[in-house]
Amino acid sequence: MSIHPSILSADFANLQAELESIASADAAHVDVMDNHFVPNLTLGLPIVQRLQEVSKIPLDVHLMIDDPDHWVPKYAELGVDSVTFHLEAAKDPLALTRTLRSIGAQAAIAIKPGTPVTDVVELLPEIDMLLVMTVEPGFGGQKLISETLAKIVQARSEIRKRGLTIALQVDGGVTESNISELAELGADCFVAGSAVFNFENRALQISKLRELSGS
Ligand code: DX5
Ligand code: ZN
Repeated sequence: MSIHPSILSADFANLQAELESIASADAAHVDVMDNHFVPNLTLGLPIVQRLQEVSKIPLDVHLMIDDPDHWVPKYAELGVDSVTFHLEAAKDPLALTRTLRSIGAQAAIAIKPGTPVTDVVELLPEIDMLLVMTVEPGFGGQKLISETLAKIVQARSEIRKRGLTIALQVDGGVTESNISELAELGADCFVAGSAVFNFENRALQISKLRELSGS
């Protein structure tokens, strides 16, 4: 089980200190939004580059952008741990996963709540992590969409059926109240923005979430 706090809910004027406040997490989740693929704008390549330079924990970069075919290699070349692109935005997802791995980054694919798991199954052997979005991407602090829970079960079963060991990440609306259920359904990597950064003591939130997830 791993806990990836999303810095979308952090103080953007103090990102280095905010990263230090989550040093006990497995990775920092960095949400890149372009105001095209999603109706919000966050940060881009130069800021992720500096975060990578100063972070003591791995970076998990979630690209919510159009044209990942162009941008994915540029993020991977920064040396981040993993790069997640959206299946809905990619022209050639298979080529992108191979590019990511050849650069040395973990390859991950995200699907939005409306995208069926069946659309991604044939790519499962090519990736290190599948991200099942549990809210519509774009904003932190939303409520988890309960219809996505069945997709977690389905995704875990497709992964298991193929004998794969890839991580199953959930992102959006993860809280202390639902993380145990998400883990029982088959998720093993949890993104949490507001459930970590809205509290003064981030280390405590991380350890609470970790414990509730069953690890
Ligand atoms: C939303 C982002 C999430 C967001 C989650 O589109 O991908 O990573 O930060 O925030 P919470 O955990 O507050 O729902
Ligand atoms: Zn995210």
